[in-house]
Amino acid sequence: MIVPVVLSGGAGTRLWPVSRESYPKPFMSMGDGESLLSKTYIRAASVAFANDQSGEIVTVTNRDYFFMSKDELARARLGAGQAGVFMLEPVGRNTAPAVALAAHYVTERYGRDTLLLILAADHLIQNQPRFAAAVADAAALALQDKLVTFGIVPAGPESGYGYIEAGEALDAGKRVVRFIEKPSLEKAREYVSAGNFLWNSGMFCFKAGVVLDEMACHAPEVAMAAEACWAVMREARKLEENMLEIPAEFFARVPNISIDYALMERSDNVVVVPAEFGWSDIGSWNAICELTQPDADNNRTTGKAIFVDSSNTFVQSDSRLVATVGIENLMIIDTSDALLVAHSDKAQDVKKVVAQLKSQD
Ligand code: GDD
Ligand code: MG
Repeated sequence: MIVPVVLSGGAGTRLWPVSRESYPKPFMSMGDGESLLSKTYIRAASVAFANDQSGEIVTVTNRDYFFMSKDELARARLGAGQAGVFMLEPVGRNTAPAVALAAHYVTERYGRDTLLLILAADHLIQNQPRFAAAVADAAALALQDKLVTFGIVPAGPESGYGYIEAGEALDAGKRVVRFIEKPSLEKAREYVSAGNFLWNSGMFCFKAGVVLDEMACHAPEVAMAAEACWAVMREARKLEENMLEIPAEFFARVPNISIDYALMERSDNVVVVPAEFGWSDIGSWNAICELTQPDADNNRTTGKAIFVDSSNTFVQSDSRLVATVGIENLMIIDTSDALLVAHSDKAQDVKKVVAQLKSQD
């Protein structure tokens, strides 16, 4: 049995000013009007409701996003009898604690050997049949007690991704020689030219019991704190409302660390399934820009804009009309209360704006 676990508690600071704490990236609407989260739910449903699966989708997110997330789940039109359980965090502690708590829930409800399919809520995947095939390959390896990740052939030396050095074949996957979370640009260049490295997609598949055991071994501080949290939650749960609140006083003691740093980098039991399903992490404005059609001067917009004597410029605007004259290589993102103007080569640095804003709070 596979239970999809959707992680959607991150803020996605590189897409400021549209993605923010009050309205993070998974809720952002894409060109077709559907949010990334809604697309993720449709993807999760294709796994959760196939054959004799449980039909349950677990979402781990911040409690501030509960109602928004429920709406997205409803919008994904999953149909009657199809359930979603929400595990609500009082604060973000990154992905390792979120995965550990989902694993406790699934272990108790369906047993230790149940597979978790961890899905990030902020990705686009274009080819669904290939996605399903990759999940089937990953599941077969996860049933052999492996920690499985999905690897993407790198399109360039991105420093915003985890890198996987792939080794010898194991069934449909490859053994992972090492996993390097977010290397420097210099290292990323080295890995891309070496040829045997893949990007980590941030999606994983493993048995609930295996990930808990591996965490106890490689990240005992996360494992112990999550266990203490779960012990309180199972007493207090309000499952009739499909909602499990994570207790603030216990969660505060859980280390703030991603699954990549806490486990994937440390374990030698990781296997990668190479994936070719039209994956894109909508990680920066460049990625949103890539989804649009360029004009003859390589200007792009997600809505309406007027470009005069301008080139390589991207415009997104909530409501106002934006016109540019005599400029090049800019990204202009206009919202009702904040305007971003950035050089197109500096898309990754938009997160520095958020860091500065936070330091002024
Ligand atoms: N519930 C919960 N709580 N979810 C979280 C939290 C949290 O505190 N923090 C992040 N998430 C969710 C995000 O909403 C997203 O869906 C997913 O977990 C991954 O977090 P990101 O913050 O987007 O991670 P990243 O993009 O920097 O890095 C990860 O993804 C890359 C591919 O997109 C890593 O796995 C990289 O190795 C990978 O290359
Ligand atoms: Mg991400």
